[in-house]
Amino acid sequence: MEATTAAPKKRILSCIQPSGIPTLGNYLGALKNWKTLADEFDGAFAVADLHAITVRQEPAQFRKQINDVLALLLAIGLDPDQSILFIQSQVPAHSQLAWILNCYTQFGEMSRMTQFKDKSQSHADNVNVGLFAYPVLMAADILLYQADLVPVGADQKQHLEIARDIAQRFNTLYSPTFTVPEPYIGKQGARVMSLQDPLKKMSKSDPNPKSYISVFDAPDVISKKIKSAVTDSEGSVRFADGKEGINNLMAIYACCTGLTNEQIEADFAGKGYGDFKAAVAEAVIEELRPIRERYERYSNDKAYLKEVAAQGAERASRVANRTLQKVMKKIGFVLP
Ligand code: TRP
Repeated sequence: MEATTAAPKKRILSCIQPSGIPTLGNYLGALKNWKTLADEFDGAFAVADLHAITVRQEPAQFRKQINDVLALLLAIGLDPDQSILFIQSQVPAHSQLAWILNCYTQFGEMSRMTQFKDKSQSHADNVNVGLFAYPVLMAADILLYQADLVPVGADQKQHLEIARDIAQRFNTLYSPTFTVPEPYIGKQGARVMSLQDPLKKMSKSDPNPKSYISVFDAPDVISKKIKSAVTDSEGSVRFADGKEGINNLMAIYACCTGLTNEQIEADFAGKGYGDFKAAVAEAVIEELRPIRERYERYSNDKAYLKEVAAQGAERASRVANRTLQKVMKKIGFVLP
């Protein structure tokens, strides 16, 4: 009998910036899926701390946030023996390849990045070169691991496009070196909107903390925030234009319970927003409870986090350095 060899799993890579505690929106929109992706693909997941210094960070706070995000990756169920879990700055190849790729990226291309244009307006006092070259560092993150797939939200699509362009350019100029990454469009994660202004995306940088739920909010805080969420005066739980507040709560509820909008409408027919909000709060509390509990355990175990990061950096470096060496050789650098 002929042995059938299973096709190797595709590599998927994603990174999260350690810039504050993620919101329910970050969780339902992206992080919740990472565990599934880790099971289906060959996963590499990183804390993108180098990206975070394009805006000023207070050192002690920054250090805590990096550890917290690593603890969060463990808390959502990622297994450091299964996937490569690492902290970007602990793998020098990211900075090294980013510099090299800077020299294969045009000023004009970077100037057209909408996120750069937006951020240079919102941080007008600190439009640094790192902010400008940010997408090149992101391309290095992706290309070092020969990632086939990158799960991206709408705001990162343009950056992935650039990573693809840079990869193709390098491959054409020399010879095939980089896998050209594809966007991973998976199960639609919820696009969670602000609880106070449901026309805006939920954001942890919103000055009004009632507008967002952080993944580590305590149950009573979650209840209060959902209770004060903006709705409408119609009083019936149904998904429709002009009912953005209710639509948003329905999306959150659907994502936490697996129910469809039709089922939710049927379950709450004849009931008021008070009942519905109580149910949404309960579902969100139960969704986040195990994550918060595991996070508390991991984030207090500094020795374990250090060990996970060290092991991850070593595994990541092995893959990344292989790509970096290839690149350097092709360009003509003298290797040690
Ligand atoms: N720029 C991404 C964000 O802000 C984070 C990120 C950095 C990333 N490097 C990446 C995402 C590589 C995917 C792949 O969300």
